[in-house]
Amino acid sequence: MENTILKAEMLSKTYSNGSIMQHVLKNLNIEIKEGDFTVIMGSSGSGKSTLLYALSGMDKPTLGKIDFKGETISKYSNDKLAVFRRKHCGFVFQQIYLNDTMSVLDNIMISGLLVSRDKKAIATRTKALLQQVGITESSYAKYPSQLSGGEAQRVAIVRALINAPAIVFADEPTGALNSTNAINVLDVMTEVNASGQSIIMVTHDIKTARRANRILYLKDGVIIDELSLGRYVKDEPERHKRLREFLESMGW
Ligand SMILES: Nc1ncnc2c1ncn2[C@@H]1O[C@H](COP(=O)(O)OP(=O)(O)OP(=O)(O)O)[C@@H](O)[C@H]1O
Ligand SMILES: [Mg+2]
Repeated sequence: MENTILKAEMLSKTYSNGSIMQHVLKNLNIEIKEGDFTVIMGSSGSGKSTLLYALSGMDKPTLGKIDFKGETISKYSNDKLAVFRRKHCGFVFQQIYLNDTMSVLDNIMISGLLVSRDKKAIATRTKALLQQVGITESSYAKYPSQLSGGEAQRVAIVRALINAPAIVFADEPTGALNSTNAINVLDVMTEVNASGQSIIMVTHDIKTARRANRILYLKDGVIIDELSLGRYVKDEPERHKRLREFLESMGW
């Protein structure tokens, strides 16, 4: 039996705009096993990003309980949550920007040095990961503002992975990438996952989604169904067909 790494029970998130209440997540239950590559799909506005924020401790749910390896993180103070995130989570969110006062290399190294003192090992790992996502040495000393959107996204992905976090949360990580770069990034994520790290990813892209072993479909703040795809080895037509049929049956 695989161990549960993350479990949410009766998760709700309600936003209030003046007198109007919007129930974005509704009594949602979710369980993630160690080593799972989970993808969350669903139409725009269904609550995917909100769910990712709540699960990762970036935002507090209105109601409900979230456990990480049996520890209830939803009752943590903000400070304790920040420590939890730094130690165990990697984030690939479009809203999380690189630090524009630091070079590409420093942006990543700083994250690594928060967890480890071994500067040489971090530098080696940083460069290896950058190479894997197609960022060459000529970009190391650049500032984020000197990168293209897709380059910045790939640097942010490397930064999220530098500490080999137990869980990687990713919101549309391939959104700004062309096909080759998207594949490189997905190959890195697949590799990271194969080494035992869990991934929870939101995407609208079927090519990206089929890397997952599990697809959850969110509609109006509720997970209405899921598809088990098995481990990704390579792009098989059958896998693609099963995913497409599942999504069609969901009204995607
Ligand atoms: N901070 C906020 N305050 C008020 N309403 C919010 C806030 N964040 C999200 N919402 C609302 O919650 C709903 C779900 O938003 P969310 O960003 O989770 O959707 P999504 O499924 O990620 O959509 P997309 O695919 O477009 O990214 C939307 O109607 C949005 O307007
Ligand atoms: Mg979103």
